[in-house]
Amino acid sequence: MCGIVGYIGKQDAYPILIKGLQRLEYRGYDSAGITLFDESIRTYKVKGKVSDLEDFVKESNRSGSIGMGHTRWATHGEPNDVNAHPHESQNGKFVIIHNGIIENYSSLKKQLTNYGYEFKSETDTEVLVNLIEYLYLDSKLTVEEAVRNALQIVSGAYALVVMSKDEDDKLIAARKGSPMVIGIGEGEYFIASDASPIIEHTRSVIYMNDNDIATISKHGLSLKTLGNDVVAPKIHELDLEIGAIEKAGFDHFMLKEIFEQPETIVNTLRGRVSSDWKDVHHGGVMSVLPQLVNARRLIIVGCGTSWHAGLVGEYLLEEFARIPVEVEYGSEFRYRQPILYPDDIVIAISQSGETADTLAAVRLAKESRALVLGICNVVGSSIARETHAGIYTYAGPEIGVASTKAFTSQVTALTSFALMLGKERGTLSQERLETMISELMRIPEKITAVLNQNDHCKYISDLYKDAENFLYLGRGYLFPVALEGALKLKEISYIHAEGYPAAEMKHGPIALIDEKMPVVVIATKDRSYEKIVSNIQEVKARKGIVIAIVSEGDTVIKEMADHVIEIPHVEEAVSPILSVVPLQLLSYYIAVARGCNVDQPRNLAKSVTVE
Ligand code: G6P
Repeated sequence: MCGIVGYIGKQDAYPILIKGLQRLEYRGYDSAGITLFDESIRTYKVKGKVSDLEDFVKESNRSGSIGMGHTRWATHGEPNDVNAHPHESQNGKFVIIHNGIIENYSSLKKQLTNYGYEFKSETDTEVLVNLIEYLYLDSKLTVEEAVRNALQIVSGAYALVVMSKDEDDKLIAARKGSPMVIGIGEGEYFIASDASPIIEHTRSVIYMNDNDIATISKHGLSLKTLGNDVVAPKIHELDLEIGAIEKAGFDHFMLKEIFEQPETIVNTLRGRVSSDWKDVHHGGVMSVLPQLVNARRLIIVGCGTSWHAGLVGEYLLEEFARIPVEVEYGSEFRYRQPILYPDDIVIAISQSGETADTLAAVRLAKESRALVLGICNVVGSSIARETHAGIYTYAGPEIGVASTKAFTSQVTALTSFALMLGKERGTLSQERLETMISELMRIPEKITAVLNQNDHCKYISDLYKDAENFLYLGRGYLFPVALEGALKLKEISYIHAEGYPAAEMKHGPIALIDEKMPVVVIATKDRSYEKIVSNIQEVKARKGIVIAIVSEGDTVIKEMADHVIEIPHVEEAVSPILSVVPLQLLSYYIAVARGCNVDQPRNLAKSVTVE
C-alpha cells in the first residue's frame, strides 16, 4: 500500500525523493516522511500529503545525497505525525521505512518492552526497527546481519529500507510479499515500491524477489537471500514512457485514464489479432495451450474491479470456449479450503499484480499443482512473475485509485482469450470468430463516440450529485458492469450504491425505490432487452429516477426513462467494455461535483499489498 522511495548517489537526494513520493502518492496519502543523510541523519515527517511534507521542511536542512521517503496508508495506528514513517529506533541507531504488516508485532513488542524499549507510535514498524537495533547492540552484528536476523524473526509482509547511523554510507532494502524495485544509474541507485519514481532516472532495474535483501552503497550493490546466499541480480530494461504517468492536461488522472481507453484497448489487442482480423492468439499462454484446450474447469481469482472483470470473463469463457468457470475473491479463495485438482487452471486477474489476497491465491493454487495464469497490467509484477504463463493487458500505468482503463483492458484480454480458446477447442465457428474479432477491433472508435457524451454525462451528474443512494441494474453480461458502476460511485463520491442483476431487484432492492432514488439501468439492445424494459417499468411505477444506458436510436426506453445516454450498438459479448464508460464518467463527475478528491479517495489505496 504505502509508497517507498530511496536514493544513494552523487546528486541531492531531496528533490529526487520528493518527486518520487509524488509519483507514489496514489499508493497511500495519509502521511509522508523523509530521512536524509549528510554528516548526520535527519528525519522529517508529517500527517497529510507530500505537499504538506514539502511545506514542513521548507526551512530545514535538506542537504544529503543519501535518503529515503515514504507515503503512508495506515494499517496500524491512525494517520498522524508520530505514526508517519520513517521510524527511528530508541537509541537512534536505525531509521526505517516499511510497507506491509508485521503480524507478530504484538508479541515482539512485549519482549522488547521487557528489554527496556519504549514505543512512541502505535505502529508495527517501530517494533521492527527496535528489534533490529536490539539485535545489533546485543549481538554485536553488522547492520546487514542485524536486519537479516530481525527479518527471520518477524512474520508478515514487508518491503522496507533501513538506514543506520553506524554504517551511514548504505541503504539496506528487503522484500517479502510487497513489491520493491532497484534502479541502477551511473554511480547511483534508486529504490522504490514501483518503477514510476525511477523511470525518469534510469531504465535499468532489478525487481527484488521475496526474501531478497540488498545492501546498496554508492560503489555497488550486493543482493542476498535472507539465508545469506548470494543472488545474481537480473537486470531488466524498463519499457515505460514518462508521459504515461503525467496528467497530460486533464484535471485528474482518472479522467485522463477514462479518455485513454480507445488507445489502451488497441494496445491490449496489438499483436494478438491477425492483420486480416481472422485469427487471435496470445503468445504468453501458447506454452500451456494443450492444457488450456483440455481444461475441465477454470477458476478466476481477483479483487475489486479485477473480480468484476473476472465475472465478465466467466460469461465469455462459458459462451465461447464452453469451459465451466468459477469466479472467486482472492481473499475468500485462500481461506476457504478450496478443492483444487492438478488439472484445474487458475487465472489470477490483477491490475497491479501485487494485490496480497490475489497473490496468496496464486501461491495456494501452485501448491495444489494447478496451472496458474496471470492477467496483469504491471509488467514484472509479482503475480506476473509467479504465474506459469499469462497475458499482459498493456493499459499503461494506472494512477487514479478507481480503476477504469485497467478494467476495460482486462475485459478485452479476457474476450480475445475466450475467442482463442473457443477456436482451439472447436466450440466457436470461424464465422462467429471473425464477427467477434471485428466487433472487438471496432470497440476503440465506439468508445470515442461514448466519450463524446462527456458533457451530457456531466449534466446528469450535476443533477444527482446530492443523492444518498444509487442502484445499478444490468442483466447477463451487463450485470458485472452494474457492479462495477456501483463500485466506481462508492469509491470516489462516497455515495452508497449497489449493483444488482436487474431481475433480482424484486427480491429486495425494490423496497428501497422512491422518488429520491436514481437507478442506473444498463439497457442496451440484447437478448434481455424486453426483460430489462419491464424492470425499468417496475422502477418507474415506484417513482424511481431512471438513468438508462441505451443503444443508439432506442425510442422505447427514451419514453420511460428520465435520462438516457446512448451508446453505439455492439454485440452483447463485447458490450461490457463499452457500457462501463458512461458509468465511469457519471461517477467521475458526481465525485467532482461533490468536491471529492477523485484520484485519492479516502481510505483507499491503489495497490493493496496487505490482507
Ligand atoms: C484496490 C483498488 C481497486 C482494485 C483492487 C484490486 O482495492 O483500489 O481499484 O480493483 O485493489 O487491485 P488489482 O491491482 O489486483 O487489480
